[in-house]
Amino acid sequence: MSTTTASNGERAQPILFRGIDEEGLHTLEVYRRRGGYDSLKRVLDAMSPADVLAELQASGLRGRGGAGFQMGKKVSFMPAGQMDKYLICNADESEPGTFKDRELMQKSPHMLIEGMIIAAYAAGANRAFIYIRGEYQAQADILDAALVEAQAEGLVGERILDSDFELTLVVHRGAGAYICGEETGLLDSLEGKRGNPRLKPPFPANQGLYQGPTLINNVETLATVPHIIRMGGAEYAKVGTETSTGTKLVSVSGNVQRPGNYEVELGTPSREIIYGLAGGPPEGRTVKLWFPGGSSAPVLTGDDLDVPYDFDALAKAGSMLGSGAIIVVDDSVPVVAVALKLAKFYKHESCGKCTPCREGTRWTVSMLERVDNGLATPMDLDIMASVQEQIIGNCLCVLGDAMAMPIGSMVAKFRDEFEAHIEAARTRNPFGDEQPSPDPVLVQGAAA
Ligand SMILES: Cc1cc2nc3c(=O)[nH]c(=O)nc-3n(C[C@H](O)[C@H](O)[C@H](O)COP(=O)(O)O)c2cc1C
Ligand code: SF4
Repeated sequence: MSTTTASNGERAQPILFRGIDEEGLHTLEVYRRRGGYDSLKRVLDAMSPADVLAELQASGLRGRGGAGFQMGKKVSFMPAGQMDKYLICNADESEPGTFKDRELMQKSPHMLIEGMIIAAYAAGANRAFIYIRGEYQAQADILDAALVEAQAEGLVGERILDSDFELTLVVHRGAGAYICGEETGLLDSLEGKRGNPRLKPPFPANQGLYQGPTLINNVETLATVPHIIRMGGAEYAKVGTETSTGTKLVSVSGNVQRPGNYEVELGTPSREIIYGLAGGPPEGRTVKLWFPGGSSAPVLTGDDLDVPYDFDALAKAGSMLGSGAIIVVDDSVPVVAVALKLAKFYKHESCGKCTPCREGTRWTVSMLERVDNGLATPMDLDIMASVQEQIIGNCLCVLGDAMAMPIGSMVAKFRDEFEAHIEAARTRNPFGDEQPSPDPVLVQGAAA
């Protein structure tokens, strides 16, 4: 939506969203007119895969899908030698509050395709997939059309731009399950199985799709690759902070006046994003809590608004940058309602493979319903907090943690409000037969 970039008061140039609203950018003609596929040409004309890898490493680019792992390092884990290797773009984008990949794919599909071809070249992969969430039908159609154009111009397929490099690229539509965004659940789903996470190790770089070495990266990560080649890795690394380089697309939703996607330089004060760009909460309201990196991130409060928006500063503040989705909750929304909404989501999306997640998400929903209808006691809050602790680190994938971390943080930071909520509900509902409160609108504006 917006292309504003801000850093410590100074304005920096957007990288991914520069000219994103230009009419026809989704077509090959307009994308090329603006210098699109020049990076690919430069790579295939004059760079070896090792040269590309060196630029990625110099850029310091960290994955934009959740874990923030360095892309260059991940590419370097791909084994050398002749074998079928794969590249997968994770376009599942199911983390609540996250809608940045959708805008990128919709408005500039060729940026992603170009990034994928370069990344595949660096990783030695000749087969690539875009795994896109089922609900993104319009975006999948746009990608399909862009792919047809790219194939017709010799940018995808055999002997790309008359080089020896070949790549087949397929857009694969998911069926709408959050767990299929987890990289190994995605692999199973792509292989035609039920999307269940796999035990790690082995990691996908060693044994991924069809047991072959597989590089998996997020849409935004891959779309950044042509820009790193254009700018040079070292120049890219000058943007942002030392350990969080570059810019980040941030989806801002919830109780803000201007929800949408914003490109910010990493290290920008969070207040500048929530208030400066997104307009802050409605008049007369204040920020009660906010999720800095999607609904899986431990919550921060209105006292944390000056934390720089980057991987390390947010971790130091006790949360995480995650998918780069800020969800703002103002003082009109009861924290219990937010926690219940969240827990229900994770309970529904748990694949059920491991006990702490399957049972822990179910118990958490039940306990929060007891809190909401006045049946709980303050001791239940201690039990609920301990259930979250027992989930964290004890599951096969981090979906369990993704519920336990924010719920645990809400109970810890808003204990008084939880207790007052129980007391008020008990007074109002002495027989405990009232239905739980209706869901709050947690992600207003996410459909922007
Ligand atoms: C439950 C769950 C859901 C996830 N959903 C997504 C997703 O929708 N998109 C995404 O890029 N990564 C998602 N991830 C993270 C991926 O497992 C993986 O780390 C990421 O695709 C790697 O790309 P990156 O290194 O470019 O960030 C999810 C992880 C978990 C545990
Ligand atoms: S943590 Fe939850 S979603 Fe992940 S494998 Fe275990 S049961 Fe499935």
